Parts: sequence; C-alpha cells; structure tokens
Amino acid sequence: METSKIFTTLLSLVVLFAAIWFSRDDGYSVLPNKLQQVLHAMLEVEQQYHVGEVQIAVGYGACKDIFVQGSLLMGAMTPPQRTAHFSRIDSIEQLKEMYALFYTAGSAAERYVGNETLFSETLAAAEAVPGSYSTLGGNAPVMASRFASEGAKVLLAAKRTPYIMQKINSNIIVGGVETEGADDIHLILEYKAGESWGTYQAPRANRFIMHSDDSNPTLSTVEYFGEQLTAFKPHLFVVGGLQMMDNFPFAPGVREERLIAVRDQIVSLPVTTRVHFEMASFTDTDLLTGLIQHVIPYADSLGMNEQELPNLYSMVKYGNVSLVSDFNPRVAVVLDQMREVFQLLRETEEKGGKRHLTRLHLHTLAYQAIMVLKDSPWKNTLAASIKAALTANRHVCGNTEISIDNARMLMDDGFTLSEAEGAGRVLFDNHRPVSCWTEDDGKVEVCIAPVLICTQVRQTAGGGDNISAAGLILQI
Ligand SMILES: *[C@@H]1O[C@H](CO)[C@@H](O)[C@H](O)[C@H]1NC(C)=O
Ligand SMILES: *[C@@H]1O[C@H](CO)[C@@H](O)[C@H](O)[C@H]1NC(C)=O
Ligand SMILES: *[C@@H]1O[C@H](CO)[C@@H](O)[C@H](O)[C@H]1NC(C)=O
Repeated sequence: METSKIFTTLLSLVVLFAAIWFSRDDGYSVLPNKLQQVLHAMLEVEQQYHVGEVQIAVGYGACKDIFVQGSLLMGAMTPPQRTAHFSRIDSIEQLKEMYALFYTAGSAAERYVGNETLFSETLAAAEAVPGSYSTLGGNAPVMASRFASEGAKVLLAAKRTPYIMQKINSNIIVGGVETEGADDIHLILEYKAGESWGTYQAPRANRFIMHSDDSNPTLSTVEYFGEQLTAFKPHLFVVGGLQMMDNFPFAPGVREERLIAVRDQIVSLPVTTRVHFEMASFTDTDLLTGLIQHVIPYADSLGMNEQELPNLYSMVKYGNVSLVSDFNPRVAVVLDQMREVFQLLRETEEKGGKRHLTRLHLHTLAYQAIMVLKDSPWKNTLAASIKAALTANRHVCGNTEISIDNARMLMDDGFTLSEAEGAGRVLFDNHRPVSCWTEDDGKVEVCIAPVLICTQVRQTAGGGDNISAAGLILQI
C-alpha cells in the first residue's frame, strides 16, 4: 500500500450509535454479584449458537512448546543493569535485558535465538526446572485444535513428525510431508502479574518466547500442502505462524519468495473461501512490509492483540514498527486505530486475487472488539465476541467452567466510542454487558465484549489463537 494514499485518506468517522443490546432486562437481576450477572448474560447467549458443518484449513507449521515459570528460570540469574531491545538473541546478557524489557511492560514477545549453544543450554536449564512441561504448540495447531473441538472438519498444514502425530487431535487431518525429523522447539517463559525480578516488576501475566527453528520459518509445508488444500474445499483458510520468519537469517530474496508462495496459495482458492490472517509479534520491518504487500491484502479477516494493532497501524500509516505498547489500552484509542486500519484495508482493489478486508478482531486482556462490514458474509458478530471473551477466561484459567472467584473485570464502567471530540459514551450494564452498534452510515458493525479476566493464571501462551478461533467459528 502506498504511503501517500494512506496519508490522504480521510477517515470518515460517523459513529451512528445504534446500540443493540442483546439481553433481556429480566430474570437474573436477583444474582447477587456483578460478575455473576455478566457471566450469566454471556453464557446465555453462547448457548444459543451452534457450529454448523464447516471445513477449515489452517497453516502453517507446528512445534513442541516447553513451558517454564520465568521466575524460576530467569529468577535464578542476576537481573541485568538495564533493559534493552534486540531483534534477535545472541547472548545471555541480551536475553536478560530483553526479558526484563518485555516483563516490565507486560508485553508478549517472541524472539529468534541465533546462538545455538545458548538455546540448548537455556532449554536444558528450563527442562530441569520443577513444573516445566511440554505440549504441541504453534499458532496453526492451537487454532486447528480449537476449531476441531468446536466441531469443524479441519486440515492442518504441518509436517507429520512422530511427536505431532501423537499429540494432535485425531480428528484433524495433518497435510504435510511425513518425516522422522526433529521438531522445532519453542521455549515459553510464563510470568504472573505483580511478580518481580530484582527491581523489575511485571504489571500483568504474560509470556516471553524463544525459538531457534530451522524448519518452520521457511514454511516448508506450503508446496506439499497445495493439492490437499484445493481438494479439501475449505469454507475458511486461516493463515498464521508467519512470525517464525521474523529475524530469521534468510538468504537474500528468500523470505519474499516464501511470502509470495503463501500469497499464491491463498489466490489458488475460490473467492467463496474466506481467508483469515492472524497477526503476531513482528519486529522486522522488512517482514512486516512483505506481509503488507503480499499477505494482508489477500485476507478478508485479520486477528490481532493490543500490541499487534498499534504495530500494524503504525506500519500502514507511517511505515515504522512499534515495539512495546500499552498493555491495557482504552477502548476509544483502539477503536480509532481499528477504524483507520479497517478503512484503509477495505479499500484494497479486488484484483489479482486481492480481497477487501471485511472483518477485524482485536483481542485484549480486558475486552474483545470485532468490526465487520455489514454487507459481507460474516454473521453472528455479537455471539462471536461473547465466545471469544469467554474463551479468554477458559484458556488462561485452563478450565472450561468459568468461576467468578477466579475472575475480575477491568472494563466495568463503560467506554467512549472515539477520542474525537463529542464522541458518545457507552455505559456498562451488567445484564447487557456486550454492546454492538453500527457506524459509517450503517456500513460497519462493531461489538465489544468484556473479558472476565482470569486471576488464577495457568497459561497465557496460545490464548490469542484460541480466542481468535473461537470468534471465527461462529462467524462462518
Ligand atoms: C553463545 O552462547 C554461549 C553460551 O551462553 C556463550 O558462551 C557464547 O559466548 C555465545 N556466543 C556469542 C557469539 O555471543
Ligand atoms: C513512526 O513515525 C511517526 C511519524 O513520523 C512518528 O510520529 C512515530 O513516533 C514513529 N513511531 C516509532 C515507534 O518510531
Ligand atoms: C487452547 O488450545 C490448546 C491447544 O489446542 C488447548 O490445549 C487448550 O485447552 C485450549 N484452551 C481452551 C480454552 O480451549
């Protein structure tokens, strides 16, 4: 996308506020507790929606995730004198300084480790920490598993290694090459809200991920997967896992070649197959530029978190990357950024397989925001935002049963619709906790659902993928 075009595009922000409250105003006002009322109202809506016969293909890659408590692994080391940012990790000092940076910001991060000795030593240390465990990971398998457990038929683009084949939900078809090769390993350091390391303190629970993949970044399954993808005839194709390419030492031109292969894979599908791209923690400007050129204009839908939105916004608007951002941004701020990104990408000219953006899902700690073009096939936006919000609690607490004893709400007195002067305000109502409205002359629908934030954190990694998948499944 040209910057000149972006600069001259005027944002037509007509917030036609027509809130559609979903819930009746009777019944459970007897519930004693505010959280209980909110939960009840949301569960009631969720129960009314069921997943139909849908086929979903998901790419790319899979890995073995090793989880360890950051406080036990990093806590055993002397905290660094300063925090610092690096695009990749080559030494233990860099690891400490970068971990401290993201930890104090409460921001999720994922970085490539260029030093193999460092990676294997850190991995060995992590595996020796009590309570560390491993699971099948990667954006694509997590989303695929969520879709499969919701009842969809799923095809996953990943190598068929013994570990993956043993761990994957048996209903999922794995469409990659059969190999005895080693699995790519991701080391996930989870930390809790309020935890400290020397003088550093974490404001919220989050994770820091390290990897030294040599197979996932090259998206080696793309070609092998092509034939199966076409035969599978998916209703939805979800593209994720491309952050593995971030700061990977590609030979000149190879990264772009791989992005073009992804583009061609998308373009090979009929326009009736909707395409969702899940953003992630990208820091490499060249990669983001490549995505904005070769992948994002080919997607109907985008999913991202509160760090990835400002990053994409900054990239499409100014051509630069934002590294660390507010971990709990105000609704008005993100709505303005969403409107601008949505507006810009909605104008994509539909040629050469490019698609207009018709859906944007933002998942944050405190709320879920979904923006869709009314005149598009996406349905049930309200229910989707509720399912996404409920999934956030279930995932982080590791329990399908939501307990209000382990929950709190950050968004409880309402929000302003925009930072623009005179913007309306939505007051929070316990019995109608989700608000939806239309704007831009009725062309765009927006829903905001509060998250019952889990306070007994089991795992944050994979949350975005589960949440995004839960939102998508009710919209196709
Ligand atoms: C790689 O890591 C090892 C282990 O921490 C360290 O001894 C070595 O100096 C590092 N290499 C570089 C180039 O920093
Ligand atoms: C990106 O560029 C804009 C406009 O030049 C500037 O205002 C903003 O601070 C920059 N952001 C970063 C993260 O450098
Ligand atoms: C999220 O996905 C992972 C991987 O499939 C799964 O183990 C976990 O239970 C999921 N969480 C929820 C709430 O479904």
